[in-house]
Amino acid sequence: MSLEHAAAVESNGNYPGKGIGQPVGVAVLGKGTVGTEVLRLIAEFSSNLEHRIGGPIEVRGVAVSNVDKHKNAPEVQGLYLTDDAHELIDRDDVDVVVEVIGGIDYPRELVLKALRSGKSVVTANKALVAAHGSELADAANEAGVDLYYEAAVAAAIPVVGMLRRSLAGDKVERIAGIVNGTTNFILDAMASTGASYEDALAEATRLGYAEADPTADVEGHDAASKAAILASMGFHTRVTFDDVYCEGITNITAEDIAAAKRANQTIKLLAICERLYDEHGETRAVNARVHPTLVPNDHPLATVDKSYNAIFVEAEAAGRLMFYGNGAGGAPTASAVLGDLVGAARNKIHGGRAPAENPYADYPVVGFEEVTTRYHINMTVNDRVGVLADLARQFANSNVSLSAVRQEEAGDGAHLVVVTHQATERDLQDIVRRLADHEDVRSVNSVLRLQD
Ligand code: HSE
Repeated sequence: MSLEHAAAVESNGNYPGKGIGQPVGVAVLGKGTVGTEVLRLIAEFSSNLEHRIGGPIEVRGVAVSNVDKHKNAPEVQGLYLTDDAHELIDRDDVDVVVEVIGGIDYPRELVLKALRSGKSVVTANKALVAAHGSELADAANEAGVDLYYEAAVAAAIPVVGMLRRSLAGDKVERIAGIVNGTTNFILDAMASTGASYEDALAEATRLGYAEADPTADVEGHDAASKAAILASMGFHTRVTFDDVYCEGITNITAEDIAAAKRANQTIKLLAICERLYDEHGETRAVNARVHPTLVPNDHPLATVDKSYNAIFVEAEAAGRLMFYGNGAGGAPTASAVLGDLVGAARNKIHGGRAPAENPYADYPVVGFEEVTTRYHINMTVNDRVGVLADLARQFANSNVSLSAVRQEEAGDGAHLVVVTHQATERDLQDIVRRLADHEDVRSVNSVLRLQD
């Protein structure tokens, strides 16, 4: 975006408002858990919202896939219910479209249509924003409307607004967070009860934390979408879902959890977004990734239990900040949607636009191989003279320096736990391959990255 364009985007004069007291027409697309709460809160807070916005919110209609299924629900009584989302978006008296459908292709079509026809959009859809954020942002810029998506990352935790507004004058160095409640619940249940991954997942499903198909959560895809959004906002660079290295929690065993405990660590699924620097200390690239990580027990992220989310942000001037709370659920997600709706509606009344995604820095987004991390490797080896020395040589051959080695006898073999110093992911993956092929290594039991 050029400087002239950036200035125009922020200028109220270019985007005049409807005027104080005018109603703001809202179309709600979707009436699942979040949509239902959004409608309930709009009705419950209507008078307060009017004061905060400068005009009343008027819901013009609710688009659902099956009208018969929803027509008796209390939240839609007196509202226009339709299965034709296009027709609802097209209405002249709709100013803001709230998209809470989920999925990617269909909501993308609807959101683009809304933006291109001059409606501001509030979406809770992380997969959509992570996959097509730049296309949506361009459409919003061209039409001079707002695109808000606070609810897409960690629901009620105001982390997108924090990056978009509060830290807009700072330099965000690093973001590391627990951004998926389902996996945090599972890992916490494994740590507190000693349960296997399968049993903890079954408990999460029984209690309604995990969905019937938990793939997006347990494979880390949901967290990767959020990492892409956080990295894009934090580093002013477009980072998409496909740029994010992603490893879920399905291979974490009760033994991994027990070993972490013995080392005063906790395993968390972290989304990590960071800058990579050149030899002059300048940012040369950025990276975003999601993987299980050993977090020291005295780190604030280690104490985040149950299905809570927490995001740790380091910025040059602000220092370290931590945001904690409900990262999922109907009401917390609807809270974030309502916050965005107030912002979008205010701009419709008073004119102007919210600060938009601004990818001016355009850093290269590099793959995980270039990032430096530390590994904690747990393996079973033959207990014979010279094994340790030979394995140490393998690490040296891979350019990986050792920080600590612990050996415990185990039957006729030995358990070996190796902690490395910082090394590139490429070199660390190389040593793991060498170990797996080594004649004295019976098995590599787990490989976990460490959060310093
Ligand atoms: N399924 C997500 C979670 C919430 O478990 O945190 C929506 O992103």
